[in-house]
Amino acid sequence: MDYKFLDISLVSTSAIVKINRVEKLNALNGEIINNLLMLFENIEEDKNIKVVILTGAGDKAFVAGADIYEMANLNTIEAYQFAKKGTNLLKFIDNSTKIIISAVNGYALGGGFELALAADIIIASKNAKFGFPEVTLGIIPGFGGTQNLPRALGPYLAKELIFSGRIIDSLEAFNLGLVNKIVEPDKLIDITLELAKKISSNGFLALSAAKESINNGLNVGKNEGLNYESNLFAKLFSTNDQKEGMKAFLEKRKPEFKNM
Ligand code: CAA
Repeated sequence: MDYKFLDISLVSTSAIVKINRVEKLNALNGEIINNLLMLFENIEEDKNIKVVILTGAGDKAFVAGADIYEMANLNTIEAYQFAKKGTNLLKFIDNSTKIIISAVNGYALGGGFELALAADIIIASKNAKFGFPEVTLGIIPGFGGTQNLPRALGPYLAKELIFSGRIIDSLEAFNLGLVNKIVEPDKLIDITLELAKKISSNGFLALSAAKESINNGLNVGKNEGLNYESNLFAKLFSTNDQKEGMKAFLEKRKPEFKNM
């Protein structure tokens, strides 16, 4: 299937999804958001894919935000629908069984920062820049920024960044714990693929369960989170992968996970 503004390639068990609207710094219009959601739904069904790498085309931007031209004349109902469209995509990424890595190659602003934050891991090139300029446009982040940034940084730092609209560079984002690693721009995809390969060598059911447990735990109280973890832990003992993983350890060999 062809997705307008999206380039998709497969490297082993990783899908690289590149948002390609270079002339508008990969700004997210409604069509891109719809296509991303459709693509993620299809990827979810694809048993061969374990990791998805999200990145932007060109060397200047990951995504410079939601499309301001498209938003400029929205009325209240249309703006609500637009925000819902974006949050539905980000919720889908959050709940996906696949491991999602944002490879941020330049500006990740507004909706672009929100998209990067929806991933499980963020690898940034040295020239990456993050920020929420929404208040400079008379609006607030609408694709989860006011919810996800405080969860990542705590309310004080998140409020400073959202209230000021200040754009931070990759080093500051790394020091704040928003970015896992900073790399040279021309090594971004290769280094991200290396990480994807390392992750993919592990049992997919265990990876998905770990993601589910962490994400669920961030939204509930600790006791509820601990119960959730115990249940997922127990559930994995009904899988072949658990049997194979432990048998391989005992037989001093590498496991061969079948994702079942
Ligand atoms: N929407 C639509 N078009 C955008 C865009 C956006 N978010 N960001 C950049 N573009 C377009 C520009 O209009 C320009 O197109 P034209 O040549 O046709 O005018 C092209 O991309 C290149 O941009 P610039 O010439 O501005 O490039 P620059 O290097 O001078 O500046 C920038 C780069 C600082 C990122 C600047 O483009 C910018 O400030 N962009 C807007 C960033 C922003 O405010 N993002 C948040 C949007 S609101 C949002 O995302 C809400 C939400 O939470 C859902």
